[in-house]
Amino acid sequence: MTDTNGEAIAILGGTGDQGLGLALRFAKAGRRVVIGSRKADRAVSAAEEVCQTIPGADVTGCENSEATGQAAIVIISVPFEHTAGTVKGIKDALSEGQILVSMAVPLATAVGDGAMRTVGIWQGSAAELVQSLAPSGVDVVSAFQNVSAHRLRQLDQPVDCDVVVSGKKAPRSKVIELCKLVPGLRGLDGGPLSNARIVEDITALLIGMNIRYKLPDGLGIRFTGLPE
Ligand SMILES: NC(=O)c1ccc[n+]([C@@H]2O[C@H](COP(=O)([O-])OP(=O)(O)OC[C@H]3O[C@@H](n4cnc5c(N)ncnc54)[C@H](OP(=O)(O)O)[C@@H]3O)[C@@H](O)[C@H]2O)c1
Repeated sequence: MTDTNGEAIAILGGTGDQGLGLALRFAKAGRRVVIGSRKADRAVSAAEEVCQTIPGADVTGCENSEATGQAAIVIISVPFEHTAGTVKGIKDALSEGQILVSMAVPLATAVGDGAMRTVGIWQGSAAELVQSLAPSGVDVVSAFQNVSAHRLRQLDQPVDCDVVVSGKKAPRSKVIELCKLVPGLRGLDGGPLSNARIVEDITALLIGMNIRYKLPDGLGIRFTGLPE
């Protein structure tokens, strides 16, 4: 059984916009981060970039399967259309007790359509698709879909976004805790994983609003009326 209190966080596809943004933020908070990539050298370069930006950061890079084996919490940060293939590729490296975080948004760009709408997923959401592919004993948690990569990478500013976190209670709580590492992010209890379909769709709405309001840094979302 993997110890989910372990410090390392693996980010598969952490060479890209969103994954590198999260890597920078978690590293800045003092957490050990393992960046994964299909190509180890790309992961190493991304890790070096983080270490140059944040002196003293504990960040390394390696191939996706190797990164998966080094962390209790594994965040999948590849485009939706490559998510299933990525999960299949790391299956043998996953073990009971690990948490797999899905932040993929099934944008219609995956089928050659626009980014302001999503496509239907047989399982209900990208996160539930990931759960259907994960080995038993590995819990999938849905989170971070509504967070802008641009805002993550503006390290001198808080991100200013609520993160709706869905999945089984215990792993969900772990990911809500993870949100506290990033100034301005507030993890909220989004209930069961099936609610991921609602959260994923919100991102398509946000992309359209970013265009209409001409906001290159991206909108965030906030829920009101919650106790402090
Ligand atoms: N960008 C945002 O603002 C944003 C906001 C919310 C949620 N998200 C979600 O976060 C995830 C990552 O988004 P992103 O914008 O960071 O994506 P991205 O920059 O386009 O790609 C991320 C990484 O995916 C890997 N990748 C590319 N093609 C692949 C393939 N054929 N098979 C396996 N891996 C492949 C690449 O890593 P390697 O080449 O190193 O393997 C790439 O660096 C997506 O699911 C997206 O829906 C993004």
